[in-house]
Amino acid sequence: EIADDGSTADKQAQLDPLRDRGEDGNLTTGFGTRVDDTDNALHAGERGPTLLEDFHFREKITHFDHERIPERVVHARGAGAYGHFRPYASLAEYTRADFLQDPDRVTPVFVRFSTVAGSRGSADTVRDVRGFATKFYTREGNYDLVGNNFPVFFVQDAIKFPDFVHAVKPEPHNEIPQAASAHDTFWDFVSLQPETLHTVMWLMSDRALPRSYRMMQGFGVHTFRFVDAEGRGTFVKFHWKPLLGTHSLVWDECQKLAGQDPDFNRRDLWEAIQRGDFPEYELGVQLVPEKDEFAFDFDLLDATKLIPEEIVPVRPVGRLVLDRNPDNFFAETEQVAFHTAHVVPGIDFTNDPLLQGRNFSYLDTQLIRLGGPNFQQLPVNRPLARVRNNQRDGYGQHRIHPDRTSYSPNSISGGCPGLASPDAGAYVHHQERVDGAKIRRRSPSFADHYGQPTLFWNSMADWERDHIVAAFRFELGKVTRREIRERTVDQLNHVDNELARRVAEGLGLAAPDRAAVANHGRTSPALSLANGANAAP
Ligand code: HEM
Repeated sequence: EIADDGSTADKQAQLDPLRDRGEDGNLTTGFGTRVDDTDNALHAGERGPTLLEDFHFREKITHFDHERIPERVVHARGAGAYGHFRPYASLAEYTRADFLQDPDRVTPVFVRFSTVAGSRGSADTVRDVRGFATKFYTREGNYDLVGNNFPVFFVQDAIKFPDFVHAVKPEPHNEIPQAASAHDTFWDFVSLQPETLHTVMWLMSDRALPRSYRMMQGFGVHTFRFVDAEGRGTFVKFHWKPLLGTHSLVWDECQKLAGQDPDFNRRDLWEAIQRGDFPEYELGVQLVPEKDEFAFDFDLLDATKLIPEEIVPVRPVGRLVLDRNPDNFFAETEQVAFHTAHVVPGIDFTNDPLLQGRNFSYLDTQLIRLGGPNFQQLPVNRPLARVRNNQRDGYGQHRIHPDRTSYSPNSISGGCPGLASPDAGAYVHHQERVDGAKIRRRSPSFADHYGQPTLFWNSMADWERDHIVAAFRFELGKVTRREIRERTVDQLNHVDNELARRVAEGLGLAAPDRAAVANHGRTSPALSLANGANAAP
């Protein structure tokens, strides 16, 4: 079905002709020649050598040899599902995004859940962040909300992301250990980079052990921007809340499950959808008028901070239902390409330096992961909105462009693709005044690394604190270098003295007898140590 605006209404209808159901029982080569035997290659004589002439044999082996593509550099292990999203009411007051205007408008989606650190074959029930990435196939193009199950992130500036990931991944010389957070390099980085602490507190909590993808929250993390039809902006934080509630495993269960059923979370998602028990999530937003940009004691552009819900409540705005498993893991879940820069009119960025870096990174990595510039044409990535542009050629080109020209402006082949006005749905970047000298420095407004970790610790029940302390003891217990354990305890002492004492005691280290003065805005001893070690001339 093609709607008035040229879009097809339904993702499944778009996919249907592309599904290869193999109705005709005959085996063929990739070019359609029928094959009479796929069990024996062509040989010269009963016991003679295999003949190069056997094109079926060569094609079969060659294709097999090329089956693997690089796994995602992070979030390699995942599970996906299709579904749909419907807003509860129009959000026109804040955003012109078409898919948020009308409670009768249903937008198809694809969601991929993932762990972050492990490789494609790693176990599901590890202590790690989980990805929660949603692709909305809107009538105005694809919108991707590429979130995690924690509301905050480890680093503030994207330029630290490769360092962080290198510290999290197994050590390069022997690829040990697989476990994300149980090793020297991770804790070395944490102890030297205090901005990680808030997310590390979440990582040591039960939030890092979701019982099910159906029982897991999601967060857009960054402050994004809604833009209404008049061009007015409103800051927005996105939240997903599972209707089944948020539930965790306990550590002992995780460890046993990782051995007994490494597919525990993906199996749970798959089976629930197969039996019609569709996972549902409510989308919520925290809205902050632009005039309140500086009303908080943290910076809205700092992804290591959340906006406490007591200050800005989460407003429920719509519901997501996952109701269809993919037909083919590789074609759909592996080849799906999410990107923070896939936005639609009405949703815009902020100057969050982590977000700005992500806006570069995803396309860049997908160009190699998915083999060139035409991966938008893969079935799962293909938008429902009509695509027309002057991009041509490249590996894996599936479109046949009959036009004589592919440049703009031109007067030859009936003109070039028309340029839409904002009223006709064109994306216009939000007007924000930017001004300043070029500097390589973290904004002083990003300097408090301990206030929110302390808030997090203070909000925990006694049993939750017990779990957090046990997690720190377990993970740091694997760290071979004493000074890394000591430095981490020192960091924790800036968060809370009781936490630091209990962790230190579990590790056989001297417990700090009083709290360090929380470093609200000053460089921590650990950070100056790191800076000293790597001092620029
Ligand atoms: C993949 C979330 C920060 C680079 C992913 C995925 C998610 C995600 C959910 C998996 C997507 C999928 O299922 O295919 C986040 C969140 C971040 C964050 C919430 C911080 C708030 C960053 C940063 C960078 C980055 C700072 C780089 C500067 C990547 C890359 C991939 C990835 C390269 C692999 C994408 C692919 O191969 O398709 N991220 N990420 N991420 N992320 Fe991030």
